Amino acid sequence: MRVFIITGSSKGIGKALAEQLLSAGNNHVVGISRTHSIDHENYQALSIDLSTEPHVWAANTEELFTQLSQREWDEAVLINNAGMLGTAAYVGELNPGEISRVLHLNVSAVIQLTHQFLKAFRGMSFSRQIINISSGAGKSPVDGWGLYCTSKAALDMFSEVVALEQRNRKESVKVFAVAPGVVDTEMQSEIRASDPKQFSKIDKFLNLKNENQLYSPDRSAKKIIELINRKNEFESVTQDVRKY
Ligand SMILES: NC(=O)c1ccc[n+]([C@@H]2O[C@H](COP(=O)([O-])OP(=O)(O)OC[C@H]3O[C@@H](n4cnc5c(N)ncnc54)[C@H](OP(=O)(O)O)[C@@H]3O)[C@@H](O)[C@H]2O)c1
Repeated sequence: MRVFIITGSSKGIGKALAEQLLSAGNNHVVGISRTHSIDHENYQALSIDLSTEPHVWAANTEELFTQLSQREWDEAVLINNAGMLGTAAYVGELNPGEISRVLHLNVSAVIQLTHQFLKAFRGMSFSRQIINISSGAGKSPVDGWGLYCTSKAALDMFSEVVALEQRNRKESVKVFAVAPGVVDTEMQSEIRASDPKQFSKIDKFLNLKNENQLYSPDRSAKKIIELINRKNEFESVTQDVRKY
């Protein structure tokens, strides 16, 4: 039995990941999000708002990891998938309340959960992996997405550092930061509803939808699971589902 801890499992890519893993059998999935939409005997729901300060919820996830680490698994995989774009807006015109929410969800929660996962499963003989869902937006600037681009760039560098540390500790924990493609989820609906004065690239995203060029959440999830299942064939920490 493998265990997967997936943040943002209620919809979009996270839900597709959870459903595919559950239907494959022999997998236990713990979903962490504010709401839940999966009913399955191997699905365990933990309701947390990860955009709040980690100290608000860290004791709950610490308890989860402690409990999970007392069982013998074939593999343990943390998938940090939950993320938010925030309202597209130029810096100087931001909604100040969103600064901490975006950075807490997209960065602080990833760091906190990764820390707890590595601590709880340290020295275990079974395979362990951390998959951070990143974005091309972490690699090139997009106007209106200052918070989002910054958070995904931070996620990429955090993943590189953790991978380096795990190699130094000879812990053999695989770490990836994977861009999931442009995927037909609520996040894309939010992008298309942006104010064009705050986001010059809006037409590109309207066209991708109109021309049916978005990945489905299922297609993206399938590629991410392929990465997990064939992890030793992938060298680089940063990956993109469109390139393998
Ligand atoms: N869609 C794309 O084109 C695209 C492209 C590149 C990267 N990504 C990345 O892929 C990941 C998944 O995106 P998606 O498109 O699947 O998004 P989505 O459809 O908006 O789903 C987001 C998921 O995150 C959860 N979430 C949101 N806010 C949360 C909070 N405060 N606390 C806990 N969970 C929260 C949501 O659950 P609740 O609402 O129930 O809390 C939901 O399950 C994100 O990291 C995103 O940046 C997406």
